Amino acid sequence: MGKWTRRRNVRLGFAALLAGTLLAGCSTLPQTPLDPKGPVAQTQTGLLLYTLYIAMAIGISVTAALLYVVVRFRDRPGQAGVPRQIRGNHVLEIIWTVIPILILVSVAFPTVEAAFATATPPDGALTVRATGYRWWFAFEYPELGIVTANELRIPAGRPVRLELTSNDVIHSFWVPKLAGKTDMIPGRVNIAWIQADEPDTYLGQCAEFCGDSHANMRFTVKALPPDEFDQWVRDRQALAQGPSELSAMAARGRDLFESTTGNCWACHTIDGTKAQGVVGPNLTDVGQRSTIAAGILENTYENMKAWIKNPADFKPGTTMPSHARLPEQDLDAIVEYLQSLK
Ligand code: CUA
Repeated sequence: MGKWTRRRNVRLGFAALLAGTLLAGCSTLPQTPLDPKGPVAQTQTGLLLYTLYIAMAIGISVTAALLYVVVRFRDRPGQAGVPRQIRGNHVLEIIWTVIPILILVSVAFPTVEAAFATATPPDGALTVRATGYRWWFAFEYPELGIVTANELRIPAGRPVRLELTSNDVIHSFWVPKLAGKTDMIPGRVNIAWIQADEPDTYLGQCAEFCGDSHANMRFTVKALPPDEFDQWVRDRQALAQGPSELSAMAARGRDLFESTTGNCWACHTIDGTKAQGVVGPNLTDVGQRSTIAAGILENTYENMKAWIKNPADFKPGTTMPSHARLPEQDLDAIVEYLQSLK
Protein backbone atom coordinates (compact mmCIF):
# COMPACT_ATOMS: atom_id res chain seq x y z
CA MET A 1 0.00 0.00 0.00
CA GLY A 2 1.48 3.38 -1.04
CA LYS A 3 1.88 6.38 1.24
CA TRP A 4 -0.96 8.26 -0.45
CA THR A 5 -3.37 5.37 -0.35
CA ARG A 6 -2.67 4.93 3.35
CA ARG A 7 -3.33 8.64 4.00
CA ARG A 8 -6.55 8.46 2.04
CA ASN A 9 -7.65 5.43 4.01
CA VAL A 10 -6.96 7.23 7.29
CA ARG A 11 -9.00 10.19 6.04
CA LEU A 12 -11.87 7.90 4.96
CA GLY A 13 -11.74 6.23 8.36
CA PHE A 14 -12.06 9.59 10.11
CA ALA A 15 -14.94 10.59 7.82
CA ALA A 16 -16.77 7.34 8.62
CA LEU A 17 -16.17 7.88 12.35
CA LEU A 18 -17.48 11.45 12.12
CA ALA A 19 -20.56 10.37 10.14
CA GLY A 20 -21.25 7.64 12.70
CA THR A 21 -20.93 10.08 15.59
CA LEU A 22 -23.22 12.61 13.89
CA LEU A 23 -25.84 9.96 13.13
CA ALA A 24 -25.71 8.69 16.70
CA GLY A 25 -26.34 12.29 17.82
CA CYS A 26 -29.55 12.40 15.74
CA SER A 27 -31.59 10.68 18.42
CA THR A 28 -30.99 13.58 20.83
CA LEU A 29 -32.00 16.36 18.38
CA PRO A 30 -35.36 18.07 18.98
CA GLN A 31 -36.58 17.23 15.46
CA THR A 32 -35.62 13.70 14.57
CA PRO A 33 -37.59 10.79 13.16
CA LEU A 34 -35.13 8.44 14.91
CA ASP A 35 -36.74 9.14 18.29
CA PRO A 36 -40.44 8.25 17.70
CA LYS A 37 -42.92 9.28 20.42
CA GLY A 38 -46.18 7.95 19.02
CA PRO A 39 -47.59 4.98 17.08
CA VAL A 40 -47.42 6.58 13.62
CA ALA A 41 -43.77 7.60 13.99
CA GLN A 42 -42.97 4.23 15.56
CA THR A 43 -44.42 2.38 12.56
CA GLN A 44 -42.52 4.61 10.13
CA THR A 45 -39.22 4.47 12.01
CA GLY A 46 -39.55 0.70 12.42
CA LEU A 47 -40.02 0.30 8.68
CA LEU A 48 -37.12 2.65 7.94
CA LEU A 49 -34.76 0.71 10.23
CA TYR A 50 -35.97 -2.67 8.93
CA THR A 51 -35.22 -1.74 5.31
CA LEU A 52 -31.99 -0.02 6.39
CA TYR A 53 -30.76 -3.19 8.13
CA ILE A 54 -31.61 -5.33 5.08
CA ALA A 55 -29.86 -2.85 2.78
CA MET A 56 -26.83 -2.81 5.10
CA ALA A 57 -26.68 -6.61 5.15
CA ILE A 58 -26.80 -6.66 1.34
CA GLY A 59 -24.20 -3.90 1.06
CA ILE A 60 -21.81 -5.58 3.48
CA SER A 61 -22.13 -9.07 1.97
CA VAL A 62 -21.75 -7.82 -1.63
CA THR A 63 -18.71 -5.73 -0.66
CA ALA A 64 -17.18 -8.68 1.22
CA ALA A 65 -17.76 -11.03 -1.75
CA LEU A 66 -16.28 -8.47 -4.14
CA LEU A 67 -13.19 -7.95 -1.98
CA TYR A 68 -12.73 -11.72 -1.66
CA VAL A 69 -12.91 -12.20 -5.43
CA VAL A 70 -10.59 -9.27 -6.15
CA VAL A 71 -7.94 -10.57 -3.76
CA ARG A 72 -8.36 -14.32 -4.31
CA PHE A 73 -8.40 -14.21 -8.11
CA ARG A 74 -6.00 -11.34 -8.73
CA ASP A 75 -3.39 -11.59 -11.47
CA ARG A 76 -0.22 -13.05 -10.02
CA PRO A 77 3.24 -12.70 -11.54
CA GLY A 78 4.27 -15.83 -13.36
CA GLN A 79 0.69 -17.03 -13.78
CA ALA A 80 0.21 -18.46 -17.22
CA GLY A 81 -2.71 -18.20 -19.63
CA VAL A 82 -6.36 -17.16 -19.29
CA PRO A 83 -8.32 -18.37 -16.20
CA ARG A 84 -10.95 -21.08 -16.62
CA GLN A 85 -13.99 -19.65 -18.48
CA ILE A 86 -17.50 -20.44 -17.15
CA ARG A 87 -20.76 -19.75 -19.03
CA GLY A 88 -24.05 -20.00 -17.12
CA ASN A 89 -24.85 -21.74 -13.88
CA HIS A 90 -28.52 -22.58 -13.32
CA VAL A 91 -28.26 -23.13 -9.58
CA LEU A 92 -26.52 -19.76 -9.04
CA GLU A 93 -29.00 -17.96 -11.31
CA ILE A 94 -31.99 -19.38 -9.46
CA ILE A 95 -30.43 -18.42 -6.11
CA TRP A 96 -29.76 -14.83 -7.12
CA THR A 97 -33.25 -14.48 -8.55
CA VAL A 98 -35.13 -16.07 -5.64
CA ILE A 99 -33.26 -14.30 -2.82
CA PRO A 100 -34.07 -10.74 -4.10
CA ILE A 101 -37.71 -11.80 -4.64
CA LEU A 102 -37.92 -12.97 -1.02
CA ILE A 103 -36.27 -9.78 0.20
CA LEU A 104 -38.64 -7.56 -1.83
CA VAL A 105 -41.67 -9.50 -0.60
CA SER A 106 -40.48 -9.23 3.00
CA VAL A 107 -40.19 -5.44 2.53
CA ALA A 108 -43.44 -5.06 0.54
CA PHE A 109 -45.78 -6.59 3.14
CA PRO A 110 -44.82 -4.36 6.10
CA THR A 111 -44.64 -1.34 3.75
CA VAL A 112 -48.21 -1.77 2.46
CA GLU A 113 -49.44 -2.53 5.98
CA ALA A 114 -47.71 0.61 7.33
CA ALA A 115 -49.03 2.74 4.46
CA PHE A 116 -52.62 1.83 5.32
CA ALA A 117 -52.13 2.01 9.10
CA THR A 118 -50.58 5.49 8.98
CA ALA A 119 -53.17 6.83 6.51
CA THR A 120 -56.23 5.63 8.43
CA PRO A 121 -56.99 7.47 11.67
CA PRO A 122 -58.37 5.11 14.36
CA ASP A 123 -61.96 5.49 15.62
CA GLY A 124 -62.46 8.01 18.38
CA ALA A 125 -59.84 10.39 17.02
CA LEU A 126 -60.09 14.11 17.66
CA THR A 127 -60.40 16.03 14.38
CA VAL A 128 -58.13 18.99 13.63
CA ARG A 129 -58.17 20.92 10.37
CA ALA A 130 -54.70 22.26 9.70
CA THR A 131 -54.23 24.86 6.97
CA GLY A 132 -50.89 26.09 5.69
CA TYR A 133 -50.42 29.79 4.94
CA ARG A 134 -47.26 31.64 3.91
CA TRP A 135 -45.76 31.29 6.58
CA TRP A 136 -47.80 29.97 9.46
CA PHE A 137 -50.29 27.25 10.38
CA ALA A 138 -53.99 27.59 11.26
CA PHE A 139 -55.49 24.88 13.51
CA GLU A 140 -59.23 24.44 13.74
CA TYR A 141 -61.10 21.97 15.98
CA PRO A 142 -64.49 21.70 14.24
CA GLU A 143 -66.01 19.54 17.02
CA LEU A 144 -64.94 22.02 19.70
CA GLY A 145 -65.50 25.33 17.90
CA ILE A 146 -61.90 26.42 18.46
CA VAL A 147 -59.56 28.13 16.00
CA THR A 148 -55.96 28.80 16.89
CA ALA A 149 -52.58 29.11 15.19
CA ASN A 150 -49.04 27.75 15.32
CA GLU A 151 -49.51 25.87 18.60
CA LEU A 152 -51.52 22.70 18.34
CA ARG A 153 -52.75 21.41 21.68
CA ILE A 154 -53.74 17.76 21.72
CA PRO A 155 -54.62 15.23 24.43
CA ALA A 156 -51.76 12.78 25.04
CA GLY A 157 -52.59 9.15 24.30
CA ARG A 158 -55.49 9.97 21.96
CA PRO A 159 -55.26 9.80 18.17
CA VAL A 160 -55.77 13.07 16.29
CA ARG A 161 -57.21 12.97 12.78
CA LEU A 162 -55.62 15.67 10.66
CA GLU A 163 -57.36 17.25 7.69
CA LEU A 164 -54.51 18.97 5.91
CA THR A 165 -54.91 21.66 3.29
CA SER A 166 -53.37 24.93 2.17
CA ASN A 167 -54.56 28.45 1.55
CA ASP A 168 -51.95 29.38 -1.05
CA VAL A 169 -49.02 27.17 -2.17
CA ILE A 170 -48.04 23.62 -1.26
CA HIS A 171 -46.75 23.25 2.29
CA SER A 172 -45.99 20.09 4.23
CA PHE A 173 -46.99 19.15 7.76
CA TRP A 174 -44.13 17.51 9.63
CA VAL A 175 -43.68 16.69 13.31
CA PRO A 176 -40.66 14.36 13.12
CA LYS A 177 -41.18 12.69 16.51
CA LEU A 178 -44.90 12.05 15.83
CA ALA A 179 -45.28 11.41 12.09
CA GLY A 180 -43.63 11.75 8.71
CA LYS A 181 -44.44 14.47 6.22
CA THR A 182 -47.84 14.95 4.59
CA ASP A 183 -48.31 17.61 1.92
CA MET A 184 -50.78 20.45 2.45
CA ILE A 185 -52.15 21.15 -1.01
CA PRO A 186 -54.50 24.01 -1.96
CA GLY A 187 -57.92 22.79 -3.11
CA ARG A 188 -57.67 19.33 -1.60
CA VAL A 189 -57.69 17.72 1.83
CA ASN A 190 -55.09 15.12 2.78
CA ILE A 191 -55.89 12.91 5.75
CA ALA A 192 -53.19 11.91 8.22
CA TRP A 193 -53.07 11.23 11.94
CA ILE A 194 -50.77 11.67 14.88
CA GLN A 195 -50.75 10.51 18.45
CA ALA A 196 -48.37 11.54 21.22
CA ASP A 197 -48.01 8.80 23.79
CA GLU A 198 -46.61 11.11 26.48
CA PRO A 199 -47.37 14.72 27.41
CA ASP A 200 -44.58 16.86 25.99
CA THR A 201 -43.88 19.60 23.45
CA TYR A 202 -43.01 18.39 19.97
CA LEU A 203 -41.48 20.61 17.31
CA GLY A 204 -42.96 20.80 13.82
CA GLN A 205 -41.80 22.41 10.62
CA CYS A 206 -43.08 23.05 7.12
CA ALA A 207 -41.24 20.51 4.96
CA GLU A 208 -42.03 21.73 1.46
CA PHE A 209 -40.21 24.74 0.05
CA CYS A 210 -42.84 27.48 -0.06
CA GLY A 211 -40.97 30.75 -0.50
CA ASP A 212 -38.83 33.31 1.35
CA SER A 213 -39.68 32.25 4.88
CA HIS A 214 -40.14 28.51 4.40
CA ALA A 215 -37.50 27.89 7.07
CA ASN A 216 -39.39 30.25 9.41
CA MET A 217 -42.63 28.29 9.11
CA ARG A 218 -42.61 26.31 12.32
CA PHE A 219 -45.12 25.13 14.87
CA THR A 220 -45.33 23.19 18.09
CA VAL A 221 -47.56 20.33 19.16
CA LYS A 222 -48.33 20.46 22.86
CA ALA A 223 -49.56 17.11 24.09
CA LEU A 224 -51.33 17.65 27.41
CA PRO A 225 -52.58 15.09 29.94
CA PRO A 226 -56.27 14.46 28.98
CA ASP A 227 -57.74 16.35 31.98
CA GLU A 228 -55.50 19.36 31.31
CA PHE A 229 -56.55 19.27 27.66
CA ASP A 230 -60.25 19.25 28.66
CA GLN A 231 -59.60 22.19 30.97
CA TRP A 232 -57.84 24.06 28.16
CA VAL A 233 -60.83 23.39 25.85
CA ARG A 234 -63.24 24.85 28.43
CA ASP A 235 -61.01 27.88 29.08
CA ARG A 236 -60.47 28.40 25.39
CA GLN A 237 -64.20 28.20 24.64
CA ALA A 238 -64.84 30.79 27.36
CA LEU A 239 -62.18 33.00 25.77
CA ALA A 240 -64.17 32.93 22.52
CA GLN A 241 -66.81 35.13 24.22
CA GLY A 242 -64.29 37.97 24.02
CA PRO A 243 -61.57 39.24 26.35
CA SER A 244 -62.70 39.97 29.88
CA GLU A 245 -61.63 42.82 32.16
CA LEU A 246 -58.96 44.68 30.26
CA SER A 247 -56.64 47.15 31.98
CA ALA A 248 -56.98 50.76 30.81
CA MET A 249 -53.84 50.35 28.70
CA ALA A 250 -55.03 47.05 27.19
CA ALA A 251 -58.41 48.59 26.42
CA ARG A 252 -56.65 51.39 24.57
CA GLY A 253 -54.67 48.70 22.76
CA ARG A 254 -57.89 47.03 21.69
CA ASP A 255 -59.23 50.34 20.35
CA LEU A 256 -56.04 50.79 18.31
CA PHE A 257 -56.19 47.16 17.15
CA GLU A 258 -59.76 47.71 15.93
CA SER A 259 -59.21 51.13 14.35
CA THR A 260 -57.60 52.38 11.18
CA THR A 261 -54.62 53.46 13.32
CA GLY A 262 -53.42 49.94 14.04
CA ASN A 263 -55.54 48.32 11.35
CA CYS A 264 -54.76 44.90 12.87
CA TRP A 265 -58.40 43.84 12.68
CA ALA A 266 -58.33 43.88 8.88
CA CYS A 267 -56.19 40.71 8.96
CA HIS A 268 -56.62 39.10 12.38
CA THR A 269 -59.53 37.59 14.26
CA ILE A 270 -59.99 37.83 18.00
CA ASP A 271 -63.09 35.82 18.87
CA GLY A 272 -65.91 37.79 20.48
CA THR A 273 -64.62 41.15 19.20
CA LYS A 274 -64.97 43.35 16.16
CA ALA A 275 -61.72 41.92 14.75
CA GLN A 276 -62.70 39.18 12.28
CA GLY A 277 -59.94 39.31 9.61
CA VAL A 278 -58.89 36.03 8.04
CA VAL A 279 -55.60 36.96 6.36
CA GLY A 280 -53.33 36.36 9.36
CA PRO A 281 -53.42 34.02 12.34
CA ASN A 282 -56.35 34.00 14.79
CA LEU A 283 -55.05 35.76 17.91
CA THR A 284 -57.81 34.90 20.42
CA ASP A 285 -55.34 33.07 22.69
CA VAL A 286 -52.08 34.69 21.57
CA GLY A 287 -51.21 35.64 25.18
CA GLN A 288 -50.98 31.98 26.18
CA ARG A 289 -48.76 30.85 23.30
CA SER A 290 -45.13 30.19 24.11
CA THR A 291 -43.94 31.48 20.74
CA ILE A 292 -45.04 34.08 18.19
CA ALA A 293 -44.44 34.56 14.45
CA ALA A 294 -45.00 30.85 13.71
CA GLY A 295 -42.56 29.44 16.23
CA ILE A 296 -39.55 31.65 15.51
CA LEU A 297 -39.70 34.04 18.51
CA GLU A 298 -40.27 33.39 22.17
CA ASN A 299 -43.51 35.09 23.22
CA THR A 300 -42.20 37.93 25.34
CA TYR A 301 -43.39 41.53 25.59
CA GLU A 302 -40.23 42.87 23.92
CA ASN A 303 -40.24 40.28 21.12
CA MET A 304 -43.89 40.92 20.33
CA LYS A 305 -43.29 44.65 20.19
CA ALA A 306 -40.26 44.23 17.91
CA TRP A 307 -42.26 41.84 15.73
CA ILE A 308 -45.25 44.18 15.33
CA LYS A 309 -42.94 47.12 14.68
CA ASN A 310 -41.16 45.43 11.81
CA PRO A 311 -42.15 41.83 11.03
CA ALA A 312 -39.94 41.61 7.93
CA ASP A 313 -36.86 41.86 10.19
CA PHE A 314 -37.75 38.39 11.43
CA LYS A 315 -39.69 36.88 8.56
CA PRO A 316 -38.56 37.97 5.07
CA GLY A 317 -41.45 38.19 2.63
CA THR A 318 -44.16 38.29 5.29
CA THR A 319 -47.43 39.94 4.29
CA MET A 320 -47.68 41.56 7.71
CA PRO A 321 -46.82 45.24 7.23
CA SER A 322 -44.43 47.34 9.30
CA HIS A 323 -45.94 49.40 12.13
CA ALA A 324 -42.85 51.50 12.74
CA ARG A 325 -45.02 54.57 12.01
CA LEU A 326 -46.94 54.07 15.28
CA PRO A 327 -45.79 56.00 18.38
CA GLU A 328 -44.12 53.86 21.07
CA GLN A 329 -47.04 54.24 23.48
CA ASP A 330 -49.46 52.94 20.84
CA LEU A 331 -47.26 49.90 20.19
CA ASP A 332 -47.04 49.30 23.95
CA ALA A 333 -50.82 49.47 24.28
CA ILE A 334 -51.33 46.95 21.45
CA VAL A 335 -48.77 44.56 22.96
CA GLU A 336 -50.43 44.98 26.38
CA TYR A 337 -53.78 44.06 24.82
CA LEU A 338 -52.42 41.02 22.97
CA GLN A 339 -50.49 39.74 26.00
CA SER A 340 -53.71 39.89 28.04
CA LEU A 341 -55.46 37.48 25.64
CA LYS A 342 -55.12 34.23 27.60
CU1 CUA B 1 -44.63 26.23 4.07
CU2 CUA B 1 -42.47 25.59 3.47
